[in-house]
Amino acid sequence: MKKSFVLAAGIGKRMKSEKNKVFHKLFGYPIIYHIIRTLKEIENLEIFVVTGKDTKVYKEELKNFEINYIIQETPLGTGDALKRGIEFIDDEDEILVLPGDTPLIKVNTIKKMFEVFNEKNLDILLLTSILDNPTQYGRVIRENEKIVKIKEEKDLDDSEKNVKEINSGVYIFRGEVLKRYLPVINNQNKQNEYYLTDIIYFAYKDNRKIDSINCEFDEIIGINTRKDLMNAFKIMKERKINELLENGVTVFDPITTYISPFVTAEKDTEFYPGVYIEGEVHFGKGCKIGPFVKISAIDEVVIVEDNVTIGPFASIRDGTKLKSGSKAKTFVEIKKSVIGENSAVPHLAYIGDATIGKNVNIGAGTITCNFDGKKKHPTIIEDDVFIGSDSILVAKEGGLFIKRGSYTAAGSVITKDVPPNSLAFGRARQVNKENYFKREEGKE
Ligand code: UD1
Ligand code: CA
Repeated sequence: MKKSFVLAAGIGKRMKSEKNKVFHKLFGYPIIYHIIRTLKEIENLEIFVVTGKDTKVYKEELKNFEINYIIQETPLGTGDALKRGIEFIDDEDEILVLPGDTPLIKVNTIKKMFEVFNEKNLDILLLTSILDNPTQYGRVIRENEKIVKIKEEKDLDDSEKNVKEINSGVYIFRGEVLKRYLPVINNQNKQNEYYLTDIIYFAYKDNRKIDSINCEFDEIIGINTRKDLMNAFKIMKERKINELLENGVTVFDPITTYISPFVTAEKDTEFYPGVYIEGEVHFGKGCKIGPFVKISAIDEVVIVEDNVTIGPFASIRDGTKLKSGSKAKTFVEIKKSVIGENSAVPHLAYIGDATIGKNVNIGAGTITCNFDGKKKHPTIIEDDVFIGSDSILVAKEGGLFIKRGSYTAAGSVITKDVPPNSLAFGRARQVNKENYFKREEGKE
């Protein structure tokens, strides 16, 4: 069977953080989430995550996935981490091991690893990369091309320091190999850790079949420091932007455009400068997004159909659906709402928990008051409604309904349902006091 073990119990000292480094976020999701998403693309792969003792946090952050958890109470090293899972390993298994801090690994690379592992009938396959500045990483030590061992930076002899081939920390092992050697690794090294990498040397001495494949360093960046996190973020966004460009999407300024890996967009959609999108968003064709727009869809997907305009200066949040031809423009915030076909929210508005029909115009300054201090309530605005500027729509238990074809007068506070084709006034009548300011006698 194919099984994967993601090692994520380390504390990550170099991150200088209160939380485990694998929970630091990239585009709204923890580092480890990105790895699990990638692994889910591989068929018939069972996933195990080795966690620290606070398993609850891992389960919460990865709640959308089916995962087996293994606890490593004290982080004694990567070898010890994998050993915690030994009871789940069978001799014939193909065991993919990944560090929890390499979120940029690609699905195709993992698929290729399984192919090579099987074609060559290997005992161990390493994923390696060549690096100009390999410090921080374990090095692959070879003799006459043959892989002999992996040595950590701190344990290298001077002569080995210029080895540029690094260990990615991603491997496939035959189950039997792990069961044979995991119990015998020790912590006699500079860091007093049980190194998983020591298995390579044991296996070499026993003439096991060890091989490697190479990949771009981009894929296997390990996030140990804040600087690594920053670099990974940059690579992640560049990858997505390049993919979008190839699919016929315009991105005017890749430097100020930040698009999550979980975004899709169809032809002729345009992203203007200053766009930040986190989570999962699907854009149709011909949309205009930005400048200066934030879309956040971490908990619930955001759907943007064809020919939609968002921005400038708009914030679109979880669970929103903007239907074809709709608009959410200057200084508008929309949360968990549906904006119907050809409807517009052009200026200065908050729309939350609302369902808006077709051809609706929401006047400037409109607020859906969806929260009564305890509960959220929905607002339902039917087709062809015109909401006057500065309308306050106070939602109530069971929802506030503005029925088809109705108008609300500018400046209204609407607390009751509005029947179809009606004009709703909810404001004080204007009073004019004539001659209130009289000219003083005798003066011009
Ligand atoms: C490790 C490799 C190194 C490789 C690098 C690639 C070892 C000994 N070294 O080094 O050769 O170049 O990854 O990124 O394996 N972890 C646990 N329990 C522990 C210790 C670590 O679960 O007791 C987890 C961490 O959470 C982390 C992963 O294992 O996600 C790797 O640990 P880390 O300390 O980052 O290893 P490196 O020093 O980077
Ligand atoms: Ca690391």
